[in-house]
Amino acid sequence: MASARGSFGSRFGFILAAAGSAVGLGNIWGFPTKVGQGGGAAFVLVYLVCVFLICAPIMIAELAVGRRTGKDPVGAFKVLRPGSAWWLTGALGVLAGVGILSFYSVIAGWTMAYIYYAATGAVTGDSTATGAFFGQFVGNAPLSIGLTFVVLAITAGTLLGGVKGGIERMTKALMPMLLVLLGLLAIRAVTLPGAEAGLAYYLNPDFSKVFDIRVFNAALGQAFFSLSLGMGAMITYGSYLSKDENLAKSAMWVVVIDTAVALAAGLIIFPAGFSLAGFDPNSSGPGLIFVVLPQLFATMPGGHLVGLAFFVMLTLAAITSTISLLEVPTSHLIDSHGWDRKKAVLVLTGITLLLAIPSALGNGASAFFSNLPGVGMGFLDLMAIVWNDFALPVGGFLLSIFVGHVWRVDKALEELNTGGAMPGAALWGFLIRWVCPVAIFMIIVFTALDLLG
Ligand code: PHE
Repeated sequence: MASARGSFGSRFGFILAAAGSAVGLGNIWGFPTKVGQGGGAAFVLVYLVCVFLICAPIMIAELAVGRRTGKDPVGAFKVLRPGSAWWLTGALGVLAGVGILSFYSVIAGWTMAYIYYAATGAVTGDSTATGAFFGQFVGNAPLSIGLTFVVLAITAGTLLGGVKGGIERMTKALMPMLLVLLGLLAIRAVTLPGAEAGLAYYLNPDFSKVFDIRVFNAALGQAFFSLSLGMGAMITYGSYLSKDENLAKSAMWVVVIDTAVALAAGLIIFPAGFSLAGFDPNSSGPGLIFVVLPQLFATMPGGHLVGLAFFVMLTLAAITSTISLLEVPTSHLIDSHGWDRKKAVLVLTGITLLLAIPSALGNGASAFFSNLPGVGMGFLDLMAIVWNDFALPVGGFLLSIFVGHVWRVDKALEELNTGGAMPGAALWGFLIRWVCPVAIFMIIVFTALDLLG
């Protein structure tokens, strides 16, 4: 069975594919933006606590569910609790895969276009000029939709090659390139004049903010998204993994790589930002990547090359994530509905593209989708809230309840121990039963209140 639905060829291949899923726009764009909004180093500290105490246990749990059942997220819950409604948790994940991909691919398209703009030096001037350039660019409907299509086509093309020949091969090629570019860029950034101010902001925590519930809320949400949790991506990848891998150890590799990349992205962006006059990390928001950094690339010596490397890196990171987003619904149609891979990939890509169009148009091209009447935000932002801020935490909450209290820790440990005894098993059991569900429940409620209030 495992061979018909595909499997990873090696432990290294799996780790790179799962790390590829995790490392994405969330690390290189989202993390520094959130650090800027959350007050710098205090956010970083809270983020690390969330990653290791709440997210790592969930990743281990997802992998265990996937490998035990060898099924897509819906099928996995059906195997473990037949006749119950738990499969709905998996179904939410399958929908989230399409939902997240629909706007993620739009942004990935922007990063791709900025490779070209960086190389040709098209973006120059102060923040007014780079901001106007970005505004005009995202407001161009055919361009935005065309770029989204290219991203989805690359993603679909990879998936058509299967798990080993497509996903594993592609991530094995892209991830090392990404890591090399990241290292080079970090070295360049910390040696910029004025880098110290950025480093101090990034690394010296203001302890009064560490216990701020808003900081905790933002940090946990960010960690969830960054580690690709709550939608069954790790259930799916775990289902392609051989029984002799030690799941907890593999999971820790993925967690460490993802976190290291996020931290390194901050090491690039804060020194770079602070080396510009008048930089305000708090108010630069989402424009950080497309508006703030190009000013620097336009002025520093060799800036074209650095900008080029930066946007290539961002695009590579995004593509290895879109692959996993599409693989979740694909595996569902293959496993639970008996479709062949080709049909599943093509149909899902078509649906995603249709759903992506309002997100692509919602940044100036269409007044309606840019500011939905009665909602007070654009379509892309609405999608991000629905899927990132709600669907993922709800999925993670249900998964932790399921593994901790329904399937139960001793059964999960049977699976986790197949590739050698799992280190820290008792601690994992405690975290997944009590700490994860309580913490995630808190952020779901807090996010809902925040939105209403
Ligand atoms: N982890 C990816 C990122 O940081 C996004 C993602 C979320 C991918 C959920 C798959 C599943 O960009």
